[in-house]
Amino acid sequence: MVRFPEGFFWGAATSAHQVEGNSHNDWSRWEEQNARRLAGQAEREFGRLASWPDIRVQAQDPANYISGRACEHFERFREDFDIAKELGHNAHRFSIEWSRIEPEEGKFDENAIEHYRQVVAALRERGIEPFVTLWHWALPQWLAQEGGVLNGKFPGYFARYAEKMVTSLSGVEFWLTLNETNVYTAHGYWKGIWPPGERSICCFLLANHRLSRAHKAAYAVIKKYVPSAHIGVAHNIIWFSRSRMKDYVWNCLFLNSIRGFQDFVGVNYYHSDRDTAVKTDMGWSVDPEGLFRVLISLKKYGKPLYVLENGIADSRDEKRAVFIRDHVRSIARAIAAGADVRGYFHWSLLDNFEWDKGFWPRFGLVEVDYKTLQRSIRPSAREYARIIENSGLDGEVG
Ligand code: BGC
Repeated sequence: MVRFPEGFFWGAATSAHQVEGNSHNDWSRWEEQNARRLAGQAEREFGRLASWPDIRVQAQDPANYISGRACEHFERFREDFDIAKELGHNAHRFSIEWSRIEPEEGKFDENAIEHYRQVVAALRERGIEPFVTLWHWALPQWLAQEGGVLNGKFPGYFARYAEKMVTSLSGVEFWLTLNETNVYTAHGYWKGIWPPGERSICCFLLANHRLSRAHKAAYAVIKKYVPSAHIGVAHNIIWFSRSRMKDYVWNCLFLNSIRGFQDFVGVNYYHSDRDTAVKTDMGWSVDPEGLFRVLISLKKYGKPLYVLENGIADSRDEKRAVFIRDHVRSIARAIAAGADVRGYFHWSLLDNFEWDKGFWPRFGLVEVDYKTLQRSIRPSAREYARIIENSGLDGEVG
């Protein structure tokens, strides 16, 4: 039997723009402008992937690329947290939608703040620890129009927003300032395939620099009000089996730039660079060994580690249960080898809006019928619940 330490956090993660619905931010604007193009190029992309006919049809429909009402989690969060509780989760990671809080520069919407107070309260009532992400990629439109993260004022704006939230959400101990700065800047500023569509190495470097400064400013603000807070970022980590250079640039550069300004390292792990036999619906390699390797390599930061995202697009729910079991086993091995891992958050609690891929990738422990918005718990979610209930897995660490 593999047992996890007492107090280990088990849960799932979501992000506001992907589940709440009815967002008005730079992403919702971009969707309107790009839905047709994305639908048009879907067939070409699917040529590379073994995908299901229903997925192909969905991917060629422009409506797939508009987040719209998404899962209506904004209205249904209590129902969704009831499910998380039923599944035994004792922690939940969600993000605050900045564009709701500060729809105009410097003007904060008290109703939106009250909404997130209720979200935190609903989690607490169910015995679920909130892990709050301040920024999961979407920007208020006024800020996007002012140049987004490239704006020299960005760190100051972000710190002001962080201050507003930390002083409004009392009792939150776990704060994630930024989600996956590497994925965001690579897509938006290097490859130019996400908003704001820049393709410039200078912009890419500047964006990373500003985000690093924004994190540090927010870290200082949160610590000022809640000295006991645990603050970090959620960083996308890939296991590069062959390239130390890629490992350094993708995995370490940003984390090194915020050294001294994080109380833990947050790891979002999905895949490695190896060509494995098992693939997700999106064609990503499934490689649990990589999670073990990255957790071991992150020991060098000398901080607790949290796996803040790990999941699989698997519309048939055929691979998810094994995926979870194998990745949890990798965490157990890493703990046995001295990595201080304190939590696992599956991506995601619900099927949701997968950015430029839209709704067809199915990442949820809970299936969402987008016509009726009905929720159905997938069998793999029950398997995960059993792992949580036993606080571990059958068998040896391996
Ligand atoms: C992001 C999520 C996304 C997930 C699956 C992560 O990179 O933080 O927003 O849905 O991966 O692609």
